[in-house]
Amino acid sequence: MFKLAIIVGTDRPNSKSQEMAEYVKVQYNERGVDGHIFSMADFPLGSVVGGLYGKEIPEIEAFRAPILACDALLFVIPEYNGSFPGVLKVFIDYLPFPDAFRAMPIAYIGISAGAFGSLRAVEQLQMVANYRNALSYPERVFVSRFNSNFSPDTGLLVPLQQELLISQTNGFIDFVKRLQ
Ligand SMILES: Cc1cc2nc3c(=O)[nH]c(=O)nc-3n(C[C@H](O)[C@H](O)[C@H](O)COP(=O)(O)O)c2cc1C
Repeated sequence: MFKLAIIVGTDRPNSKSQEMAEYVKVQYNERGVDGHIFSMADFPLGSVVGGLYGKEIPEIEAFRAPILACDALLFVIPEYNGSFPGVLKVFIDYLPFPDAFRAMPIAYIGISAGAFGSLRAVEQLQMVANYRNALSYPERVFVSRFNSNFSPDTGLLVPLQQELLISQTNGFIDFVKRLQ
């Protein structure tokens, strides 16, 4: 089976996106996918101060190499100010250009405290991924009011949303396998 990078799109301590990533990792692993979590909390932000675009930065290379070695990406993205977190954009701006996302299968889960389930954040990230020639998986999952709608053991508490999450999981596995 394939290797999946599950990317937590924030560096916020005790992030809910991290909790969601841990739940979906179990779902993928149970289906035979080799899932690994990478969090923006571990992105070496201090190493890029001063605008070192295009430079060899060992800490950045060490962070991004295992992600880029994966066959597919799954972003778990919180909504921050109607968009995705800035640290995630910095991470993308320090990926190798133009190859990093080219023909890379990518799926998206958005989570928010508010009512819109990170729809705007996911769509804005998808615009960036499209620009970088990624293959975005069309079934996305949006979870609003995350705090009252998630259990680390059983997943999403609204049955339809849990169905959509499982449907995305199964569908994305099939999508990646067809591309291989
Ligand atoms: C800087 C910041 C901005 C935020 N902006 C929004 C927002 O625009 N809409 C929203 O529904 N929630 C917003 N939130 C709340 C997050 O959606 C909430 O923290 C949620 O648990 C997911 O993010 P987390 O992974 O940081 O926990 C914001 C949180 C932070 C820290």
